[in-house]
Amino acid sequence: MYEVSKVVKGEEVSFKHPSKEFYKAIGGEEGMKALMYDFYDIIYESDIAHFFPQDEEEFEAVKEKNTKFFIQICGGPKVYESETGGMNLDEFMIRLHDDFSIYEKSRYEWLGCMEEALRKVKIDQNIKDDFWAYLESFSKLTVNTFSDGSVYYAKYNRGQ
Ligand code: HEM
Repeated sequence: MYEVSKVVKGEEVSFKHPSKEFYKAIGGEEGMKALMYDFYDIIYESDIAHFFPQDEEEFEAVKEKNTKFFIQICGGPKVYESETGGMNLDEFMIRLHDDFSIYEKSRYEWLGCMEEALRKVKIDQNIKDDFWAYLESFSKLTVNTFSDGSVYYAKYNRGQ
């Protein structure tokens, strides 16, 4: 697996947004859509499938919104902006995950699905690594439940 460091409860998380190089290399909006739809197809077969809507239409809506988010976060057009109700995009995305009890194990599985999808994409590895660095760090902020049953929401700072 690509490198994944562990979540340490109480530790502040730093992350930076992916560079626009990834967005360009993947092929803009269409390329991002292909990647994210493949990713969700993999999710659907994974151990974290139960987190996601089982209804086909609802699942489709999540795929679409997810695609829009990644287009925007990677420096493409701001197609997700209308979803956030004016909230900061990072904060909005972290808080959206508060509704689910996400353990480190679920994050690991999520990252594994993303890795599987990314491996099929033939782009420069350095560009992929930069995108991965964002996923690896930001995903720590979606983890909110620990093996002792405690709930904790990490602090974070966005680097440059
Ligand atoms: C880099 C880390 C992550 C990013 C950027 C991310 C991003 C997203 C986005 C964009 C959406 C759709 C938001 C919308 O409906 O507008 C979403 C939904 C969701 N994500 Fe994540 N996610 C991440 C990690 C995770 C992890 C580790 C899990 C673990 C299970 C997870 C579980 C979910 C669930 C359950 C939903 C909602 C599905 C629903 O609406 O019913 N995410 N995420």
